[in-house]
Amino acid sequence: MATRPSWLMRNHKLLEKNSYILLIGILIVVAVGGIIEIVPLFYLKNTIEKVEGMRPYTPLELAGQNIYVREGCSVCHSQMIRPLRDEVERYGHYSLAAESMYDHPFLWGSKRTGPDLARVGGKYSDDWQKQHLIDPRSLVPESIMPPYAFLDDRSLDLSTIQSQMKTLKLEGVPYTDSMIARAIDDAHAQAGEDYDVEALRRDYSMAAGRDNTVNVREFDAVRGAPSELDALISYLQVLGTMVDFSTYEAEDLSNQR
Ligand code: HEC
Repeated sequence: MATRPSWLMRNHKLLEKNSYILLIGILIVVAVGGIIEIVPLFYLKNTIEKVEGMRPYTPLELAGQNIYVREGCSVCHSQMIRPLRDEVERYGHYSLAAESMYDHPFLWGSKRTGPDLARVGGKYSDDWQKQHLIDPRSLVPESIMPPYAFLDDRSLDLSTIQSQMKTLKLEGVPYTDSMIARAIDDAHAQAGEDYDVEALRRDYSMAAGRDNTVNVREFDAVRGAPSELDALISYLQVLGTMVDFSTYEAEDLSNQR
């Protein structure tokens, strides 16, 4: 005896023949799927783990990041170490979301022609960085990285740094009024000129919650007002150095390796 087709089978014609009803049906199905994906996120305390030591970039580092963006360094370099054994062994602890929370725009990148730079800070001396940027092949003969020697001759334009910091503050980067007011002096101080270094150190150490997180020196080894090279090297030298991993407890990733 033939069984009677189910209610859905009998009425499915309706959906197939009437595209508006089909559309409403699709919307209902997609909405259910969406809710299932989104609702659990409301129950997470935070999608960014809190870590110690993160502070906003100093004006000089921020100017360096602008040059990094302008020159398209992220076309060849990523800044995101994935939790895979080969990457962790090569570059160090995998990147945490919190480490790029003050990056606007974030510079994770998607192309890895050159090595990942998320933890390049402190890996080389300033001299090495300078020489490498001026003429990469003088240090790494097989390198295909283009030379950026012109950065050495260009003095750093700080005319928009304060308005940029104000904008970043609107986006949630914790710049204080005193940091913004002192931005230009701070940039000169950090590049080793005779300015008030203590104010710079105090403001940014307070933001980081620990001392001595600001590198102060002539990054390009030249006395005088900061060059674009000073800014870029100060930025490279701070990458990946803010979080104090001795206080950070990693979640267990053994099943992902
Ligand atoms: C055409 C691709 C390309 C571009 C653009 C590029 N790089 Fe590179 N970079 C490389 C390659 C390839 C290497 C590895 C060989 C070497 O060390 O020169 C490298 C190496 C580096 C290293 C050394 C990393 C390490 O861990 O050894 C740094 C630092 C660096 N680049 C910074 C920069 C900066 C800053 C810019 C932008 C001003 C930039 N690169 C632009 C390709 C590129």
